[in-house]
Formats: sequence, structure tokens, C-alpha cells
Amino acid sequence: MILTNKTAIVSGASSGLGAAIAKALVQQGTKVYGIARNLKNLQQISDILGDQFIPVSLDISEVQAVTNWIDNTFSATNLPDILINNAGIGYFRKIDEMNYNEWTEMIQTNLNGTFLLTSQIVPWMKKHEGIKHIINIGSIMGTIAQPESSGYSTTKFGIQGFSEALFKELRYDKIKVTCVNPGSIETDFFKNSNITTHSNMLQADDIAASIIHILQTPDNVLIDSITIRPLIPQVK
Ligand SMILES: NC(=O)c1ccc[n+]([C@@H]2O[C@H](COP(=O)([O-])OP(=O)(O)OC[C@H]3O[C@@H](n4cnc5c(N)ncnc54)[C@H](OP(=O)(O)O)[C@@H]3O)[C@@H](O)[C@H]2O)c1
Repeated sequence: MILTNKTAIVSGASSGLGAAIAKALVQQGTKVYGIARNLKNLQQISDILGDQFIPVSLDISEVQAVTNWIDNTFSATNLPDILINNAGIGYFRKIDEMNYNEWTEMIQTNLNGTFLLTSQIVPWMKKHEGIKHIINIGSIMGTIAQPESSGYSTTKFGIQGFSEALFKELRYDKIKVTCVNPGSIETDFFKNSNITTHSNMLQADDIAASIIHILQTPDNVLIDSITIRPLIPQVK
């Protein structure tokens, strides 16, 4: 896909990987609707990226809010080409220390929010003939689970299955679906967790560059799933 003059939606665009993807897309000439709950953070991104970045204050787990935003935004003259389902949260605890609110928040954001956006953006994508692309941000923890990651891994294994079913379902509508599974990225994601990070994590801009490459592949090329790791996770 040629990215100039395309329209993208990036969830979780106010920080970390989502902000890096939004920046990379704007640099390619794509109009980006950047979704997150915190409008102030989105406006700071908008100040840097300019008019091609449109801040959207939205909780993707709120059914009516997502529906209203999509209904009020897209039309026959404003059709989406790209959806990046990136918003996600993680709580990492032993199962007997995980509380129901944290479990539910992960399911609501990582799975239900992804469903709400995807199920309502796909009909608009189907309305035009060009190539479209949905990228779901999974995780290595959606392919190999670790102790104290049961809730998060449940959601990211779910994203893996969701993506595989969708790529098989939507390919005939010229909608590519890719699941991107990164290893640890240096963002605020682990800020409030008890996870010990390391000093050689992946950089959000590098993952964003890989995503641009995936989007730019020739029309008949579909990368259905990709794992991205730091070459040397622990510097000795
Ligand atoms: N960091 C890592 O090591 C790593 C590794 C593999 C995969 N991932 C995945 O990468 C994605 C991005 O994570 P990150 O590292 O960039 O984390 P981050 O810096 O914490 O960013 C998360 C983003 O999601 C938004 N968000 C959270 N809940 C939301 C909701 N209900 N509605 C709308 N937006 C919401 C946040 O903004 P607001 O709080 O303003 O809503 C923020 O913009 C996630 O799916 C994560 O699971 C991360």
C-alpha cells in the first residue's frame, strides 16, 4: 500500500508504541485518528505532528462511545484504509493476587476494545475497492506464557487467534490482517508493574518502522504474523 493520502486509526496513540506508529504514518503522508482516553497527552502529540494527527478522546471499551465516534467520523467520502489495534494494558501478578477489576480491565481493553473498533471499522473498509490493512498488536506473551502473566497472556493469545481468523475471513475483501508480536519495548507499559525490565529493550520507533514496512508490502503480499525481539535482551 502507498501510504500517502491514506486514512488510519491508531488506538493507544497517546504514548509508547502507538505514538511512534502515529508519527511514522504521518511522516508517510497518512491522516491519523489517534485514540486514547487522555486528551491532554493526545494534544501534545498533535502539537508535534500537526493537522494530519487528529486527537480522539475515547475509551475503546465503551460500546456506545466507540459506536458514536465511528458513526460521526466515517462516511462515503471519508473511508478508513488502516486500523492499528494497539491500545493495551497489562497487570502481572500471581493468580491468587490478581483482582477481578484488573482482570476485567485487561479483557475490556485488549480484547473487547479491539473487537468494538474492528467490527465497526470493517464495514467501512469493505465499502472501497483498494487494499486495506488491520494490524493487531499482540505480544511475545501471546505466543509463550510466563508465570504471573495469566490475564495478560489470555488477552494476547486471544489477539493471536482473533488475527488468524480475521486474516482468513477478510483476505477476499482485500483487507490484510497482521498480528505483530513484540518482545519488551521501552515504553511506560511496565511503569506500574512489578516486572523487571532490562537495559536493551526494543525501541518503539524501530517497531513502528517494521509496521510501516508491513503496510507498504506489495498488494499481493500478506504478512499474517510477525515476532520482533531484541537481538540481545540482557546486556552482560
Ligand atoms: N511495552 C512492551 O514491552 C510491550 C511488549 C509487547 C506488546 N506490547 C503491546 O503494545 C501495545 C502498546 O503498549 P505500550 O508499550 O506503548 O504501552 P503504553 O505506553 O502504556 O501505551 C498504552 C496506550 O493505550 C492507551 N489505552 C489504554 N487503555 C485504553 C482504553 N481503554 N481506551 C483507549 N486507549 C487506551 C493509553 O492511553 P490512555 O491511558 O490515555 O487511554 C496509551 O496510549 C499494547 O497493546 C501492549 O500490550 C507492549
